[in-house]
Amino acid sequence: MDILQSIDRTRLPKHIAIIMDGNGRWAKERGQDRVYGHHEGVLSVREIVNGCAEIGIQYLTLYAFSTENWNRPKEEVNALMELLVNTIRKEVEELKKNNIKLHVIGDIESLPEVCQRELAEAKEITAGNNGLNLILALSYSSRWEIVEAAKKLAKDAMEGKLKPEDIDDKTFHSYLNTAEFPDPELMIRTSGEYRISNFLVYQLAYAEFYFTPVHWPEFRKPNLYEALLDYQQRERRFGKTSEQIQTTPQHA
Ligand code: FPP
Repeated sequence: MDILQSIDRTRLPKHIAIIMDGNGRWAKERGQDRVYGHHEGVLSVREIVNGCAEIGIQYLTLYAFSTENWNRPKEEVNALMELLVNTIRKEVEELKKNNIKLHVIGDIESLPEVCQRELAEAKEITAGNNGLNLILALSYSSRWEIVEAAKKLAKDAMEGKLKPEDIDDKTFHSYLNTAEFPDPELMIRTSGEYRISNFLVYQLAYAEFYFTPVHWPEFRKPNLYEALLDYQQRERRFGKTSEQIQTTPQHA
């Protein structure tokens, strides 16, 4: 049986989050510059987005540019911004056709204006779609997001819109960039690093983590299917015992 057929479609994660790592190393290993790796990485983005849409994943968040990535050499930052603009421009009709709805999280105002415009346009073009929700994390970091949420909460509390004692998990979540999305159940990181690098720290509280040594430009549909199979072999207990879990359905 091929790997795709082994996946149980009734037990898919609703939301997958991916740290696309290893573009630079992949390129270096081939005697190329880092930007070449990012270009090849876009091919993986396309394949994984389509793979998720085909199999029925509802939300896919891709960590495309962190707040820390601004500290990279200027040429690399510029190349990444240009790649982002060109990719969105080129792919938007395909996203529309494939019923994919684009969202963006992060400090969008810190992006070059041309990026902001292209993203806003692509969001508008795909706004009526109701298939896969593709969420690009751009100029994003969890600490930034949490601090922003805390500032807005403090402001609303000062203005009497909510009482500090009424703040619970649900209220806090509603102040995050990801308020409209469910938490990811599966986080994938490519390229052999075992950390989450300031990515969805709050939202990944109960996620299953899948780490693979494969560099992002080589991460394609079969690798995605392997991650899904691995996920389906895990027992998600949410603090309960194994016995309790076995008497209640996990994916209800
Ligand atoms: C990590 O590899 C990758 C990035 C910082 C950028 C990811 C961007 C893309 C895949 C292309 C643009 C994306 C979209 C959504 C159009 P790295 O450079 O950190 O690799 P290294 O760890 O080997 O140096």
